[in-house]
Amino acid sequence: MKEFDLIIKNGTVVTSTESFLCDVAVKDGKIAAMAQNIEADAKEIYDAAGKLVLPGALDAHTHMAMPFGGTVSADSYMAGTRAAACGGVTTIFDYPVQHKGETIRGLVNSKKEVLEKEACVDYAMHCCITDLNEGEILEEMEKAVAEGITSFKCFLVYKKEGMMVDDGMLARLMLRAKELGAMINIHAENPDLIDYYTEKFLSEGKTSAWYHYMSRPEFVEAEADKRAVHWAKHLDAPLYLVHMADKEGLEACIEAKEEGADVFVETCPQYLEFTCDVYKREDGRNFVCSPPMKGQESQDALWKAIKNGMIDTVATDHCPFQSYEKDWGKDDFTKIPNGCPGVENLYPYMLDAANSGKITFERAVELCSTNVAKIFGCDNKGSISVGKDADIVIYDKDKDFTISVDNMHSDLDHTIWEGKQLHGYPIRTYLRGNVVYDNGDFVGTPGLGEYVKRSPRKH
Ligand code: URP
Ligand code: ZN
Ligand code: ZN
Ligand code: ZN
Repeated sequence: MKEFDLIIKNGTVVTSTESFLCDVAVKDGKIAAMAQNIEADAKEIYDAAGKLVLPGALDAHTHMAMPFGGTVSADSYMAGTRAAACGGVTTIFDYPVQHKGETIRGLVNSKKEVLEKEACVDYAMHCCITDLNEGEILEEMEKAVAEGITSFKCFLVYKKEGMMVDDGMLARLMLRAKELGAMINIHAENPDLIDYYTEKFLSEGKTSAWYHYMSRPEFVEAEADKRAVHWAKHLDAPLYLVHMADKEGLEACIEAKEEGADVFVETCPQYLEFTCDVYKREDGRNFVCSPPMKGQESQDALWKAIKNGMIDTVATDHCPFQSYEKDWGKDDFTKIPNGCPGVENLYPYMLDAANSGKITFERAVELCSTNVAKIFGCDNKGSISVGKDADIVIYDKDKDFTISVDNMHSDLDHTIWEGKQLHGYPIRTYLRGNVVYDNGDFVGTPGLGEYVKRSPRKH
């Protein structure tokens, strides 16, 4: 019997705090040993000389097969997690949305049924609550937390879609989550301002994708960000703000953090790369997502917080729609399904930022992997260290890669990242010791992904 299943030799291991030359040995899906020179038998020896050995990324924000915008997001759980594996993401967090009256158990089980067959990487869930079911949900949350669902989402928008929560619901959910060691994630934008501007622009015949941005500009997001932070501070309850895109809201979060509030901030690669100018492009509708990309000042503030540690995570909000669906809104921005692809681009994009010296590799690992695992209680994930799951990405700092729809592994027929040049790229992904991506090819298996049971937060 071989002592190990796999030894990755001669690579540079990167954690959120340091980088060092080290061999990594894997047994039964776990990292079993780490040392300078492991001389032992293994079924597979991989020579990673000159390469970086990174923990797999955890994409804390995806919407696979999500009914939304009059259709369903274009990546099935199979296609979306296949793309994830090829971008070095070894765990996704899905956002299943509760139908009115549905129980958490019903919602989770319906998704697990599909994921057990289709998932190519591991998966966790943040459940989007839309209805308290006369208080039943608050009761049920206890069981959900015990079963590893330790975060729930509230939309402060999407009234017409039936997904919005009101303040009374929000307060109850935040307090109950706090009590249970769980957390509420919030999508913050002001719905009434969006409605006001939308009606106004439509009545003026202003219908291009640019008016998607103009109907939800910076202050519309900031107002809701500030409100969410205000609640978190005064209820003394933890809060995770998803897809932060504006400067003023970000500043409110930073201020709250400095006062010691448990406020966590996520942003997305699309906000770091694009500004609202994309909505003036011929293909502007492909970039339509909520919240929209903002101006340069906001983007600069996001990068500053990426660099100084005030943003906690980068996740994708992967929610793609095919070109024909985006085209529904060619002449009316309100008919464009909201959402963009990104699950395969997250880690390569942030690692490219590290490779060019914008941030350190340790910081890229912290933002895309270690912090996500810590914040959301994935105890076996997020680091290359003995005892953790062997979710490992081999990264070649010298490999040049140009993103194109032709080299992506999602089912989408276009990408907002078309033509983006990256210096450095993942060449291999291991999921619990199994190779699932190898030099451009998906080599994993649908159904190999497992449910990640998460731990509650410690008070
Ligand atoms: O436009 C987006 N972001 N679509 C997905 C749903 C959401 O708000 O996260
Ligand atoms: Zn959202
Ligand atoms: Zn989202
Ligand atoms: Zn190059």
